[in-house]
Amino acid sequence: MNEVIEAMRKRRSVRAYTEEVPSDELVERVVDAGLWAASGRGRQSPIVLAVTDRALRDRLSAMNARIMGAPEGTDPFYGAPVVLVVLADRSVPTHVYDGSLVMGNLMLAAHELGLGSCWIHRAREEFDTPEGRQILADLGVEGDYEGVGHCILGYAAEVPEPKPRREGRLVWAR
Ligand SMILES: Cc1cc2nc3c(=O)[nH]c(=O)nc-3n(C[C@H](O)[C@H](O)[C@H](O)COP(=O)(O)O)c2cc1C
Repeated sequence: MNEVIEAMRKRRSVRAYTEEVPSDELVERVVDAGLWAASGRGRQSPIVLAVTDRALRDRLSAMNARIMGAPEGTDPFYGAPVVLVVLADRSVPTHVYDGSLVMGNLMLAAHELGLGSCWIHRAREEFDTPEGRQILADLGVEGDYEGVGHCILGYAAEVPEPKPRREGRLVWAR
């Protein structure tokens, strides 16, 4: 089978990770693949915040858990050591689509490079808070960026079985 199609079929959302931290080089390769995604009018509205700093990773996890209404101590990032936050420039009409496609590329690239990943939601709510805005400002991110998703990364401790594809989702008109 074609390698890209095989990766699309074999990639799974990983929710259990080992403590091993992927190298910066590997993280960069994943992000690079993300940044090659198509974007509306080629405007490349998304950016990726690669969080390998443990304190910031834990802070984002706590913010995300609060938004989710989860009990104190819940880690919505499932112990993954690296979090890639995709944000996109709100002034571009296609920014959410652009950011979502980057997320797809990140997850596929991670799979291809032997890493586990999972889309974790609530990035918009997280980065629309004053705390989220301040985090971006402190990192030197200027402009009106909307959080699209977190792509958590690490080495998989467990990979789930896929669910069968729901029937009836191809509608031909021929
Ligand atoms: C928009 C979006 C938001 C998601 N948010 C979460 C999330 O917050 N937490 C989580 O564990 N998984 C999340 N997922 C992962 C899905 O639950 C997962 O893709 C789905 O169960 C299918 O599994 P698979 O990715 O292994 O095929 C999200 C996926 C998408 C596309």
